[in-house]
Amino acid sequence: MATQKTGLRDLFGRLLQDVRISVTDRCNFRCPYCMPAEIFGERYQFLPQSEILSFEEITRLAHVFVGLGVTKIRITGGEPLLRSNLPELIQMMSNIDGLEDLSLTTNGYLLPQMAHSLKEAGLNRVTISLDSLDDDVFGEMNGRGFGVDKILEAIDVAEKEELTPIKINTVVKRGVNDHTLMDLIEHFKGSNQILRLIEYMDVGTLNGWQMDEVVPSKSIVESINEKYPISPKQKTKNSETADRYQYNDGTGELGFISSVSEPFCASCTRARVSTDGKLFTCLFASDGMDLMPLVRDTSTTDKDIENAITSVWEHRSDQYSEERTAQTNEQSPSNKSKVEMYQIGG
Ligand code: GTP
Ligand code: 5AD
Ligand code: SF4
Ligand code: SF4
Repeated sequence: MATQKTGLRDLFGRLLQDVRISVTDRCNFRCPYCMPAEIFGERYQFLPQSEILSFEEITRLAHVFVGLGVTKIRITGGEPLLRSNLPELIQMMSNIDGLEDLSLTTNGYLLPQMAHSLKEAGLNRVTISLDSLDDDVFGEMNGRGFGVDKILEAIDVAEKEELTPIKINTVVKRGVNDHTLMDLIEHFKGSNQILRLIEYMDVGTLNGWQMDEVVPSKSIVESINEKYPISPKQKTKNSETADRYQYNDGTGELGFISSVSEPFCASCTRARVSTDGKLFTCLFASDGMDLMPLVRDTSTTDKDIENAITSVWEHRSDQYSEERTAQTNEQSPSNKSKVEMYQIGG
């Protein structure tokens, strides 16, 4: 058993509060900004089963993190619903004392058939990605030509199963889906779901990111405000990724994740564990500490794992997005090696 909760702070005083755990590096989509189809073809070698954390290992790690003060855990991928028997893992994790928020980010494709068992297993809520309501644009953004119907069905089913509050993630890419945003905004205005517009980020090294493909949130806020007046709303937690806005006419809220134009590193309390058990302290890190040997070795105690995580977090000084912004002349992707999105799930 991990020792009781303590607050673990990094070199900038940021507490370790949230963990994102990737349960698979596979995905049934090929979003060009994450897993471009030309790289992730039929013959691409994903991690073999033996190299990915088992459910017991993930649960062991989760216990240790919660013992260190973590209250939020998000399951990610790749596409997490592709991991076999996922509800079993959710069941194991939902029993962890002190874990207040167990959520999952999914592309939604397999959710209609899985929502019920995930809810029964103890999952609190889901966030579903949806980049456009236009079938052609969405098909291009998911790289597989899939239409939106299935995702809208997933949202309905998740709502019925009370995997709530449901958030909808839309990555905005200039010239690709930005002309279809108003449809999305109008669709979710007045619904129970919270739409979040995300600035396209230079995650990983494979998407050929360019600064001019980013649409700054500020300009989207302005165009929404002209049609449907909105006002900023207080964040529930300082460490939240999204700036929240509410419609002045009382028809709900929406969020903006502006990691490029307005980085939020100063309040970043997130750690990430990759599918193969590496601990990353930033979405843009090059490498992480390999926890696999520790979790896999039954002679290692939870205290040993706790010490390893503590030492990594106490030396943490990551603030990649702030640094990227500081280098204002950097208009193209950095040459630095970076972990890929599909390995740590965003
Ligand atoms: P909530 O707990 O509901 O607020 O979810 P979340 O926004 O933390 O997670 P989600 O998986 O929905 O991610 C939304 C977007 O924020 C994705 O594009 C993530 O890659 C991005 N994101 C999440 N955490 C961070 C972070 O620490 N840094 C940066 N730069 N982006 C992040
Ligand atoms: N920039 C911003 N968000 C991204 N996501 C995937 N790749 C990127 C990127 N390059 C989003 C997904 C999902 C979340 C986990 O991260 O669409 O909603
Ligand atoms: Fe799959 Fe999500 Fe990456 Fe798209 S962004 S390829 S849905 S893991
Ligand atoms: Fe946190 Fe790194 Fe994102 Fe900054 S860039 S908010 S340090 S994960």
